[in-house]
Amino acid sequence: MTVDRGAEHEAGYAAYTPWVLSFYDLLVHKVSNRFAWRCPTDLMIDHYEQHLADPHLDVGVGTGFFLDKARFPVPEPRVTLLDPNRHCLDSAARRIARYQPSKVAADALAPLPELGRFGSIGLLYVLHCLPGTMASKAVIFDRLKPLLADGGTLFGATILDDDEDANAVARALMGFYNRKGIFSNREDSQQALELELRRRFERVEISREGCVALFAAS
Ligand SMILES: C[S@@+](CC[C@H](N)C(=O)[O-])C[C@H]1O[C@@H](n2cnc3c(N)ncnc32)[C@H](O)[C@@H]1O
Repeated sequence: MTVDRGAEHEAGYAAYTPWVLSFYDLLVHKVSNRFAWRCPTDLMIDHYEQHLADPHLDVGVGTGFFLDKARFPVPEPRVTLLDPNRHCLDSAARRIARYQPSKVAADALAPLPELGRFGSIGLLYVLHCLPGTMASKAVIFDRLKPLLADGGTLFGATILDDDEDANAVARALMGFYNRKGIFSNREDSQQALELELRRRFERVEISREGCVALFAAS
């Protein structure tokens, strides 16, 4: 299924070429999480597993790292992958071919097609890539909320630019990625994230590790 991409959002996903994806896991999940963002990847996998349900929709799939590493609550989960970037969709789908995932090429900031209802929706490391302020990028919550089943959970993680203890590596990387348009998180804070989630969901949990906010909302 392919849906109009909304060209103005392209900076947030255009960077993920097959070449970049070939070293993405090493750079982000092995090196940057530990030395720049100070959020252990194992903790992110725990967060992911804690909220995974069936059926699951993953939005902004990258290489499919978390989908591959996490244990699903059922042996044969129904998984849908949604991303405007074909390389990401194909890479993640190959990685978890054992689950025979469905692929949806779509920009999650734009109106989405009818995809059914999901017990969980994962949004890992996507918000900091989206253009605009937290208030404007939070439109993604409005797009995804109607896809949640009763009692379903939207969960994820995002890198914030409000950490006074951010180290020199984090500050340098954050500046570089923002200049390139790969990140747009100069104005992202935990307070703003919490405000936008609470506007839309009854139950909101946010925990913090270094520069990373881990959230869940239902
Ligand atoms: C930093 S990667 C995160 C990949 C993966 N979730 C992870 O944590 O390893 C950001 C992902 O979000 C996707 N993305 C960026 N803008 C998007 C949008 N508007 N709608 C849906 N996905 C988007 C990118 O194509 C990419 O797959």
